[in-house]
Amino acid sequence: MKIEIPTPDDWHVHLRDDAMLDAVVGYTARRFRYAMVMPNLAAPITSSTDAAAYRDRIVAAAPADAPDFRPVMTLYCSPLVDLDDLRRGVAEGVVKAVKYYPAGATTNSEAGGASMSDFLDLFETLAELDVRLLVHAESTDPAIDIFDREAAFIERELIPVSDRLPELGITLEHVSTRAGVAFVDERSQAAATVTPHHLAQERSDLLADGMRPDLYCKPVINSADDRDALIAAATSGRADFFLGTDSAPHPTTAKYGPKAKAGVFNAAYGLEVVAEVFHQAGALENLAAFTSTNGASVYDVEASTNSVTLERTEIDADVATTFTTKAGDEVVLFGADVATRWRVTND
Ligand code: NCD
Ligand code: ZN
Repeated sequence: MKIEIPTPDDWHVHLRDDAMLDAVVGYTARRFRYAMVMPNLAAPITSSTDAAAYRDRIVAAAPADAPDFRPVMTLYCSPLVDLDDLRRGVAEGVVKAVKYYPAGATTNSEAGGASMSDFLDLFETLAELDVRLLVHAESTDPAIDIFDREAAFIERELIPVSDRLPELGITLEHVSTRAGVAFVDERSQAAATVTPHHLAQERSDLLADGMRPDLYCKPVINSADDRDALIAAATSGRADFFLGTDSAPHPTTAKYGPKAKAGVFNAAYGLEVVAEVFHQAGALENLAAFTSTNGASVYDVEASTNSVTLERTEIDADVATTFTTKAGDEVVLFGADVATRWRVTND
């Protein structure tokens, strides 16, 4: 089994900074062309100047053997975003999108919003500029069950905003539930990124046979029924679902403690995991749409003219299961088991 696809893009990735950036950027740069870089650094990226400086650090850290790597930058939706600066950043091609985080929902979201309705001016500006709003759709209401928080956020926050601004392009990031798929079904303004781990795992994998902190992320991996809805949407070839890995490295010291940090590092083998999901679904003919062409159309860029070949075969060589940064932090690679079944070569 062998398939050739245009070089994939990753429309949602956390590259971090400093020693972690140095350690992870090569995994993304060697596999993907565009990378939509999330702005949730310890000090959030809220201005076009911050975004340009961060892009420069990413480019400086990227390996020389990945010449077609194209990081594109996002601003963190916060009261600190100045609308004139946003317009300038977009006009100069520095800012590609804005990301909304509910305050407290996930890693480095403290600077996020209490309610989407507080940012209508910013969202109107995005609609006018034809720039997409990226949304982490997860309620922070402690009264809502953790597995119902995507649905609750969509109902309470996202639907009112999308009703009010039907011309605003919305990307529902790392969609994790059937309710999220239904939101995209119902609205032509909406699209969604899907992660390798939400496609390949369900919550019993996370919790049933020894709790696995390496699968813990936000939004949490949900039920098998939800995963099936994600697989159906992603593998269908439809234009509004595409790959955003949400690769989010955390040191094992932060994962294996009393309060595991949310985030799965999948930049290394996320493509293999996705290929395996499509293979199991009998839908490899739609892999390129999901990994390489749908997202490009949504973000108004041409799909890559370079290609990658994926071959399903046993790999004899050892597959790495961790890496260590120069600062001594160890990070676990998601998908190493699946990576033993796929050989990926850049053409
Ligand atoms: C992300 C991170 O670690 O920055 N974690 C995660 O579980 N997905 C943040 C995010 O995208 O929610
Ligand atoms: Zn993320």
